[in-house]
Amino acid sequence: MANDPLLQPFQLKHLSLKNRLMMTSHEPAYPEDGMPKALYRAYHVERAKAGLGLTMTAGSAAVAKDSPPVFNNILAYKDEVVPWMRELTDACHEHGTAVMIQLTHLGRRTRWDKGDWLPAVSPSHRREASHRAFPKQVEDWDIERLIKDYADAAERMHAAGLDGIELQAYGHLMDQFWSPLTNTLEGPYGGDLDNRLRFTFEVLRAIRQRVGEAFIVGVRYTGDEMLPGGLTAGDGMAISRRLKDSGLVDFLNVVRGHIDTDPGLTDVIPIQGMPSAPHLDFAGEIRREVDFPTFHGAKIQDVATARYAIASGKVDMIGMTRAHMADPHIVRKIMEGREEEIRPCVGANYCLDRIYQGGAAYCIHNAATGRETTMPHTIPKAAQTRRVVIIGAGPAGLEAARVAGERGHAVVVLEAASDAGGQVRLTAQSERRREMMGIIDWRLARCEALGVEIRYNVWAEVEDVLAETPDVVIVATGGYPAEDQPPVGHDLVVNTWDILSGHVAPGKRVLLFDDAGDHAAMQAAEIIAATGAQLEIMTPDRTFSAEIMAMNLVPYMRSLQRPNVTFTPTYRLKSVQRDGSELLAKITSDYASQDQLDLDQERRIDQVVVNYGITPMADIYFELKPHSRNGGEVNYDDLIVGTPQAVIRHVDGGFQLFRIGDAVASRNTHAAIYDALRLVKDL
Ligand SMILES: Cc1cc2nc3c(=O)[nH]c(=O)nc-3n(C[C@H](O)[C@H](O)[C@H](O)COP(=O)(O)O)c2cc1C
Ligand code: SF4
Repeated sequence: MANDPLLQPFQLKHLSLKNRLMMTSHEPAYPEDGMPKALYRAYHVERAKAGLGLTMTAGSAAVAKDSPPVFNNILAYKDEVVPWMRELTDACHEHGTAVMIQLTHLGRRTRWDKGDWLPAVSPSHRREASHRAFPKQVEDWDIERLIKDYADAAERMHAAGLDGIELQAYGHLMDQFWSPLTNTLEGPYGGDLDNRLRFTFEVLRAIRQRVGEAFIVGVRYTGDEMLPGGLTAGDGMAISRRLKDSGLVDFLNVVRGHIDTDPGLTDVIPIQGMPSAPHLDFAGEIRREVDFPTFHGAKIQDVATARYAIASGKVDMIGMTRAHMADPHIVRKIMEGREEEIRPCVGANYCLDRIYQGGAAYCIHNAATGRETTMPHTIPKAAQTRRVVIIGAGPAGLEAARVAGERGHAVVVLEAASDAGGQVRLTAQSERRREMMGIIDWRLARCEALGVEIRYNVWAEVEDVLAETPDVVIVATGGYPAEDQPPVGHDLVVNTWDILSGHVAPGKRVLLFDDAGDHAAMQAAEIIAATGAQLEIMTPDRTFSAEIMAMNLVPYMRSLQRPNVTFTPTYRLKSVQRDGSELLAKITSDYASQDQLDLDQERRIDQVVVNYGITPMADIYFELKPHSRNGGEVNYDDLIVGTPQAVIRHVDGGFQLFRIGDAVASRNTHAAIYDALRLVKDL
């Protein structure tokens, strides 16, 4: 352990970092009123307590009012940020973790209809595809005030006692000056590379004047935009050298690619199924050529790869950001020789996609992340051991079993199938989503270590459950695809699970009707399209895949944008009937006018695949209700504040009965796991 490259200290100018692991900056959208308050602090302190070397807080903390928060960023342009950042920093310092913050102006990467409704500003009028605002082109007086804004924000962080800052320069205002694609100014801030870098060095000089030498300043920047006409790797190397030679910065934090589109962002921060550590060698090249402290992170999910990154000298500090969202205690587990207990990041990017759709970043399979003030990462032992029977070994059932096991209860899981995993196992049938099995495998390993008994091929009947004389029964039986749709002809269709599981082979001319807008439809579509079949994906919604967020959609589009696939939003499957060797699907629309009522469109195909979502499968729950003490009732107030459930409806009932996950109502993996954690942590 003592020789582990990851655990060696790193001297960054005057600052001693106790090990080589860092969280790169990421805005999890936890601020309250733009400030990093109790939750934000608790999130970082949890990782600091476990031994993280450096935490780069925030992500895109805004230095100016015309950089309004698009994902609930910290407002670094307000003086009130100082005491909040001081509290966070002091709390992390207590555990020996260095604290820095990423400061930025988003430039065009924002919207004008947020915050104070000021126009977005950029060195060109060109719109960024992701955020859609057409910016105002920056003027001389903008540049003057922006330089001051950066320096003011840096001074606030210095006053708050942070160890340093980094400036963001990939996709934001700073590198919008650098890139010929986003800078249409003429001199002195447009034109050749020197001119395009002028703004950056003026900002850096202004910052240094305020914070002095004994404060770390770095830049997180793209070393190659990988876009025709954009910054090249050669430009990136030149910029790296100039940053070093300026004497104004203390470290480089290297990124490769561009983030102005969803696909671009996904290549920079790869999702599951994409290669691991795709930009590590590139960062290593810069480190080697420029010979300057270099940080990097991009899909380094496992300790072995992180160790290699440091041992090979490619970088000085290695980012494991999402990995620390999935498991905050990585460093402690490395130090204690418990690496195999690390909860793996499965690259689902639920965390990232959520900051745009839904608010706070949550980890798909660690429901305590982002809820540190209410949910424990370490489950305490219960005062009293109880006998817990769990029916179903999908994500909800296994999380319930794991948490009950951590509580010290005697746990039995009854699973109808021959394997654990439920819908996650089905999802992981797609090669690209195989990493999802980490959610199941990690829980199975934990359950085994905790002595949880899992019985497979058991279709639980009431007698089986009663025979266990349980104190608590948790029904986590999930659901199955709705079977009664479309209203006419549902016996002629197949569903997405049939395709995903391989039970039904794709047809040659296929209509996939997606009423749920979730992964099952897109995964089935991928399988069908790959056979070369003619595929029409139809949805009644105004956009397809409404439940699949931005980065998650990227790999689907990459495999579905082909000549044999068409998308038809705003149309609804009305009925299916057989017509000789073909199927005849009648199509209507919710938008059809009253007098029209029916669009009378039709499709002649040989297969209709439907995706109407999940119907809960919970017969056993209803059969057990009369035997239970609480009649299955959950006191929501107790659940939310985290006090034990104490409902009594039948005094003679022998056990408490609960139902979690899709067995209650169709939701998603995170919801199923959160259901389990918050119920069972108080049992
Ligand atoms: C929720 C979330 C928000 C992020 N926000 C930022 C940000 O504001 N600025 C930034 O430079 N990177 C941001 N990132 C990117 C991370 O710093 C990191 O580059 C990325 O997650 C890849 O590293 P990883 O594979 O170790 O997670 C964010 C990442 C996540 C997960
Ligand atoms: S949501 Fe997925 S990508 Fe994000 S931290 Fe969790 S496992 Fe990793």
